[in-house]
Amino acid sequence: MRQRRWILVALVAGLILGQPGNVPAQDQAVKKLNPFTGNPEAITEGKRLFSLYGCPGCHGKEGGGGMGRPLLDDEWQFGSDDGTLFKLIRGEIPGQTMPDVFGKAMKDEEIWQVIAFIRTLYKGDPSRINW
Ligand code: HEC
Repeated sequence: MRQRRWILVALVAGLILGQPGNVPAQDQAVKKLNPFTGNPEAITEGKRLFSLYGCPGCHGKEGGGGMGRPLLDDEWQFGSDDGTLFKLIRGEIPGQTMPDVFGKAMKDEEIWQVIAFIRTLYKGDPSRINW
């Protein structure tokens, strides 16, 4: 009987300590690289750049997709985090079929602004947002 109680205590302690809330804030922020997420001016600029660099040609003006993948759903070819999208747009993901000519011509800041704009296109489940 006594032993059972300890197992229970250990289980409860494990549950409490194992909560995501106990992960240091630093670890949770690791993926959030984009300094412009949610910044209204950067988003406006990102939208302009998105058109300027011809992204709608494959992804549609509203990101609904076409020749390229939709940018507003929960399906991401290589991942949805900032670092992955940056590398993809820059053209540095091995095996990507998206051309790298656009990203190679863009400054880092411009890529981040475009990503800030792309985030506003998302129409999926808000609880799945991990950027
Ligand atoms: C010639 C067509 C084409 C153009 C132009 C294009 N893309 Fe793509 N894009 C693709 C394809 C194809 C993929 C799917 C990933 C892969 O296989 O490389 C993709 C994937 C993406 C993704 C990830 C989508 C997902 O579901 O995983 C983002 C974000 C993206 N592109 C942004 C851009 C931006 C920003 C531009 C403009 C600078 C751009 N694309 C221009 C074809 C294109």
